[in-house]
Amino acid sequence: MRSMKESYSITREQYKLIRENIEYLCTQQEVKTILVTSGESGTGKSTVSANLAVAYAQKGSRTLLIDADLRKPTQHKRFMKEAHVGLSNYMRRDVSIASCIQRVNLENFEFSIITSGPILPNPNDLLSSPKLTATLEQLKQEYDVVIIDTPPINIVSDALILSKKVDGVVVVVHADKTNKQAAKNSVKKLRMVDANILGVVLNGTDNAKNYYY
Ligand SMILES: Nc1ncnc2c1ncn2[C@@H]1O[C@H](COP(=O)(O)OP(=O)(O)O)[C@@H](O)[C@H]1O
Ligand SMILES: [Mg+2]
Repeated sequence: MRSMKESYSITREQYKLIRENIEYLCTQQEVKTILVTSGESGTGKSTVSANLAVAYAQKGSRTLLIDADLRKPTQHKRFMKEAHVGLSNYMRRDVSIASCIQRVNLENFEFSIITSGPILPNPNDLLSSPKLTATLEQLKQEYDVVIIDTPPINIVSDALILSKKVDGVVVVVHADKTNKQAAKNSVKKLRMVDANILGVVLNGTDNAKNYYY
């Protein structure tokens, strides 16, 4: 049995490895906005998004994490940030994006976060707005990397809509919760909208090969 400390450090190493893999894949193409999704809920999308943001911030990249899961947002809780200023009210109201960005300070590094904002009806409409496309382009000028957490694609189309507005997509599959067919369906749906799939992260295995591409 591994000690808590040991398993934590292995996990941290794994996220660093995922980040390095993404960076390696991105030497051929500019990938600054990365969407994290999966077929179903509970696979670890939010966990992977958060840890990827941490891994980028730790190596000194100007990092922004956006909680675009406007249905079941979790990042505000994880990082103990305000939920009421965030993406949904930015999309709805005439406020600046800067006023929606909060800072997360951890150990000796920091990064920015845009939480979900209040849960509003029709997240789909908010996410398909051209305002968001323009905002993401603007944020790419200000950050080295923007990680976007989303709801599951086999349940709602939010992430598919967003996948057209980002440079790359990371698909999270869970060793126990995701069956092969569901994983195939997710990839098929993403391919149908011409998403640039960067890779697949396998979550929920208890060994060092906790990911693959
Ligand atoms: N690798 C992991 N090891 C242990 N618990 C995990 C792991 N990945 C996710 N979890 C837990 O599983 C639950 C669902 O993860 P979450 O990231 O919220 O999934 P999603 O965003 O896909 O719904 C959370 O309670 C989270 O803490
Ligand atoms: Mg989530």
